[in-house]
Amino acid sequence: MNAPPPFNFAGRMLLVTVAMVSFLALLLLLVPALAQDEGEALSKGIGPIESVELGPIDETLVAAGKETFELLCTACHKFEERYVGPPLHRVTERRSPEWIMNMILNPTQMAMEDPIAFDLLAEYMTPMADQSVTEEQARAILEYFRSIDAELPDETP
Ligand code: HEC
Repeated sequence: MNAPPPFNFAGRMLLVTVAMVSFLALLLLLVPALAQDEGEALSKGIGPIESVELGPIDETLVAAGKETFELLCTACHKFEERYVGPPLHRVTERRSPEWIMNMILNPTQMAMEDPIAFDLLAEYMTPMADQSVTEEQARAILEYFRSIDAELPDETP
């Protein structure tokens, strides 16, 4: 009479295989969900801008944007600290390019209908003024923000 094997090797292999396959299946399900989440995280806001193509930073646009910003926006905004409006450092990291341009071009409707702008209004208690900026000017200001944020050191977690 042979003694029974101490454990059922084939059975264990099957169990391990099933566990690994389920784990991989779970990963496959999760990875696109996570990736999608990141893509969807940044709203485009409400307004005339539906999509913005970003290339390498365009220094001519930056200079034009800086000029308009200093003329129309510094009454209420600083970069590194809260003023009448929010500090604008890293705004290109927390908002999409479309959202930023829509906020500049369409601040009143944004504050009423866009959930992020609405929360900002509740926090700052001052409506952002509509400065009658043109789309070209708003695009240039976006480029200026991109150039400012590109110079900032990586945020320490
Ligand atoms: C009268 C003051 C005022 C002026 C002028 C102003 N803003 Fe604002 N801005 C605000 C306030 C206040 C908020 C917060 C939202 C709100 O209260 O409606 C804001 C919000 C913003 C935001 C969103 C910030 C974030 O953290 O998401 C951006 C971007 C912005 N302003 C850009 C500009 C630009 C560019 C100009 C110039 C064209 C400008 N603002 C002019 C007051 C102002």
